[in-house]
Amino acid sequence: MKTIGFGIIGCGMIASWHIRAIKENAASGAALVGVADSNAEAAKKLAAETGVKAFSGAEELISCPDIDAVCICTPSGTHAGLAVAAARAGKHIVVEKPMVLTVADGEKLIAACDKSKVKTEIISQLRTSENVQAVKRAAEGGRLGKLVYGSADMKFYRSQEYYDKGGWRGTKAMDGGGALMNQGIHGLDLLQYIVGGVKSVYAKAKTLARKIEVEDTLSAVLEFENGALGHVSATTSVYPGFARRIEISGERGSIVLEENEIAFWDIKGYPLPDGLKLGRPSQNTSSNPAAFDVRGHALQIADLIEAVRKGGPTLNDCVEGLKSVKIITSIYESAEGNSPVTIK
Ligand SMILES: NC(=O)c1ccc[n+]([C@@H]2O[C@H](COP(=O)([O-])OP(=O)(O)OC[C@H]3O[C@@H](n4cnc5c(N)ncnc54)[C@H](O)[C@@H]3O)[C@@H](O)[C@H]2O)c1
Repeated sequence: MKTIGFGIIGCGMIASWHIRAIKENAASGAALVGVADSNAEAAKKLAAETGVKAFSGAEELISCPDIDAVCICTPSGTHAGLAVAAARAGKHIVVEKPMVLTVADGEKLIAACDKSKVKTEIISQLRTSENVQAVKRAAEGGRLGKLVYGSADMKFYRSQEYYDKGGWRGTKAMDGGGALMNQGIHGLDLLQYIVGGVKSVYAKAKTLARKIEVEDTLSAVLEFENGALGHVSATTSVYPGFARRIEISGERGSIVLEENEIAFWDIKGYPLPDGLKLGRPSQNTSSNPAAFDVRGHALQIADLIEAVRKGGPTLNDCVEGLKSVKIITSIYESAEGNSPVTIK
């Protein structure tokens, strides 16, 4: 079996999830070749800890012939440029969320990947959960009847120190937005993954409690393509912070996800399927951004490997990855213009 060599660009917090996820896929031929960071010391430190090569920068890593796939773990505003460069060099790419910060950049990336025929895996690790898959099947299979309302509430707590420490966090150029683009994208992505595409949005966004350039609190009304209504709320300024809550309701039933646990399931004539159970989350990222395990990342790396070996599509390619970015940028446009926005 041919080894699939991985390289990681960006040696900060999320890099360690990618390192563990690649290791978990060693039996399928995944191997970490090296890491790079614009801060040479950060790359050297992580490379020494992991026993791999420290590249002098992104360019050297991307051009290394031993590297087949590049994980992009840098601040969000750098994803587009690095991902396009890697795709043009013929590398498969794994890009952290958000994939890009603008629709134009997303379209450029899609074109570059199509041209080079490389596989893309955009990280949205919650999609891999069995519970989420079961909820999606129930909604898509018509078990809930006509879908009426879908919501994602993400009322989180991040201190001012969290923003000050990161440097890039909370900036327009590098974070691209605040509570919704950075933290809330996970719940919004699940909502549109389960309920379907969003047709129009009407939003309010404010910076109420943090000294940042972007919103720390946002609320948006959504109209889905299937006619259902819904909302998304996202804040990073409420103490102590609450578990992410997604509610999907139709004429025949309702389901509530708290984090990835099924907290409520009541559907006429369709009990909770065997093998699933009701539960409450034991930990959540409402006040601790690192409180999640590596399982989702490992499954997405496994999915990329399978697509590379067998030639099929990935679970969350760059066309899928652009969907949540398109909804979020439309929500920002609505909040700025104080008017509804129809998503093209
Ligand atoms: N999937 C998740 O749940 C999840 C969780 C946390 C972060 N993220 C995402 O991961 C990305 C990184 O976040 P983080 O918390 O690890 O950030 P971080 O600040 O901890 O690390 C970023 C690293 O990238 C380096 N860097 C910056 N610009 C670079 C460039 N042009 N080339 C090479 N290296 C560069 C920095 O020096 C730093 O070491 C963000 O897009 C974030 O949204 C995803």
